Amino acid sequence: MTKKRALITGITGQDGAYLSKLLIENGYEVHGVVRRSASADLVCSRLIWLGVADETVLHDGDLTDLSSLIRILDSVKPAEIYNLAAQSFVKSSWQQPYLTGLVTGLGVTNMLEAMRLVCPEARFYQASSSEMYGQVQEPIQSEKTSFYPRSPYAAAKLYAHWMTINYRESFNLYTLNGILFNHESPLRGIEFVTRKITDGVARIKLGLSDELSLGNLEAKRDWGHARDYVKAMWMMLQQDQPDDYVVATQRTTTVRDFCTLAFSHVGLKADDYVRVDKRHFRPSEVDVLLGDASKAHDKLGWKAETTLEEMVAEMVDADLVRVQQKEHL
Ligand code: NAP
Ligand code: GDD
Repeated sequence: MTKKRALITGITGQDGAYLSKLLIENGYEVHGVVRRSASADLVCSRLIWLGVADETVLHDGDLTDLSSLIRILDSVKPAEIYNLAAQSFVKSSWQQPYLTGLVTGLGVTNMLEAMRLVCPEARFYQASSSEMYGQVQEPIQSEKTSFYPRSPYAAAKLYAHWMTINYRESFNLYTLNGILFNHESPLRGIEFVTRKITDGVARIKLGLSDELSLGNLEAKRDWGHARDYVKAMWMMLQQDQPDDYVVATQRTTTVRDFCTLAFSHVGLKADDYVRVDKRHFRPSEVDVLLGDASKAHDKLGWKAETTLEEMVAEMVDADLVRVQQKEHL
């Protein structure tokens, strides 16, 4: 029997790696778009960590290069496209606003155009973001809540979000948005606050460092586990009709409390090591995010399975091993 084929952009990122594993376990042939790098040996480290690098087929391409996307879609002919590629670090989006708009915004239009031209029968998932709620207009955010983007990243994501809806309505394509709240894992990039904390805790515990420098400790996020969230992406594309869904745990926690959990996992007190440095603050902040995932619960049967405490423990333990073994990820 021929396997169902999926194409993942952003396959080398956190979500791309977990999604590859999930799809391979579900019998898919998984293809990914990888941009050229001078450090090609490091590019697949997340796929290697999850033990799926040898089972994925990688194609050279970039979201800003339409012809590369057309060529890849033409050769792969995927049934499902997961568009996860982006300049995804919010803080960098103020330093590189044009690039962020190009990749995270217009790059999505390139993907939609390539699909419309080459494989209009495919199903398309767009990685939308809770960051689009920005200065929140309701205390709990659902699919019906108005957006108020507070960063170049969020503005680019909002453009991509509406383009995805526009291609659905204009061309009757199967395109949808998953509005995912923050999700983390041992494979999270080191620049994001959760991984910065768990890596810092491991270094302090092992005597390699004596403090952790952070920015706004009062910001609140609705943090889930990436492994659970990629399942929701897949479930969305299995529905008869395309629709947009919020994915969240429905619990919000401060950065300060995340620190407390991570330090206490190794028997230390966060207050003894965390220092606030204004250089880590942002030009404008998203103070609090808290998602209402009722629609995903009711229509997809999806629910977050990992608690914050379990996730923090998994991340700290993974970083303890990595720091001891001097591994880079
Ligand atoms: P990530 O780890 O930063 O991965 C981003 C991926 O995009 C990487 O594979 C990166 O490739 C690729 N990429 C960047 N620029 C590209 C370009 N010009 N052409 C092709 N590929 C490019 O992000 P993530 O956490 O897995 O998130 C996946 C997606 O979900 C992103 O779109 C993100 O904005 C969105 N999202 C994430 C969260 C979250 O909490 N994680 C929440 C909501 C939405 P390299 O490896 O070469 O850098
Ligand atoms: N990165 C970072 N580093 N953030 C810090 C620090 C620090 O030293 N100190 C405090 N923070 C605060 C930030 O100001 C922010 O309020 C919060 O921690 C979370 O920051 P990040 O982990 O960088 O994530 P994010 O919420 O800005 O963006 C992530 O989630 C979005 C979904 O809401 C990214 O994954 C985005 O791609 C995603 O769309």
